[in-house]
Amino acid sequence: MDGVSLEVRVGEYIGVVGPNGGGKSTLVRLLNGLLRADSGRVRVMGFDPSAQPFEVRGKLGVLFQNPENGLVAPFVEDDVAFGLENLGVERTEMRRRVAEAISTVGLSGYERREPHTLSGGEKQRVALAGLLAVEPEILVLDEPTSMLDASGRREVLEHLGVLRGEKTILHVTHHLEELLDADRILVLNGGRLAADVTPERLLSDTELLRENRMILPTVPRLAFALGLLPTKLRTPEELARAVRERAANEARAR
Ligand SMILES: Nc1ncnc2c1ncn2[C@@H]1O[C@H](COP(=O)(O)OP(=O)(O)OP(=O)(O)O)[C@@H](O)[C@H]1O
Ligand SMILES: [Mg+2]
Repeated sequence: MDGVSLEVRVGEYIGVVGPNGGGKSTLVRLLNGLLRADSGRVRVMGFDPSAQPFEVRGKLGVLFQNPENGLVAPFVEDDVAFGLENLGVERTEMRRRVAEAISTVGLSGYERREPHTLSGGEKQRVALAGLLAVEPEILVLDEPTSMLDASGRREVLEHLGVLRGEKTILHVTHHLEELLDADRILVLNGGRLAADVTPERLLSDTELLRENRMILPTVPRLAFALGLLPTKLRTPEELARAVRERAANEARAR
């Protein structure tokens, strides 16, 4: 990774996109100290993650791209509690937070299941619950919805919306439509920061999208083709309403 210079402020919601092999997961590993930068400097709330991993990991929690690697405990509930145990959180508080996190990811009833028997999406939910239970100040999510069904994806995105402002969030994804409300989007390609832009800017820059192997999501693409503002319209329903309103205005003008 080279030529990546960026700063994230407290409370920001940052999207991270870019092609396969672009460097997104590498950035994630640099931030939690799994990788050491061979040149340059990484600081998380003043700490060097590779030299002071424990200081950093209490504040910055990561959901890794491959949830299999993170699941270690015999039962789902122990796995979700794992991070809290390391932090020495008191028993009753721990039980409360574990139950809440399990319910947030839609896994109530799975507490005594063995993680290795779960489906891919279920494992991804367990890993996310473990992160949410710790309630870190900074959440770094590497493709958190990649294995989830449509409703699961929506639930996770809604929960991120709830955390927004309260937490600092870095959200890596290949789904641009998940980032339309982000404060900024970082584009990583070839281990470099290709762009650091607003969602509006990225969606309106066809060249930037193409160079980084992205395509405009369907709703903004349709809005654009209909001559409407692509970034103001998020859902098919919003787009339909805008089209109906425009037709009504045109009819009135006639
Ligand atoms: N341990 C490693 N040793 C050598 N090269 C590595 C290592 N880990 C990653 N790379 C290389 O670094 C580049 C960036 O990888 P990274 O995992 O950060 O990509 P990514 O943007 O997360 O991609 P994806 O969208 O596929 O998850 C890739 O070319 C990858 O092969
Ligand atoms: Mg990756």
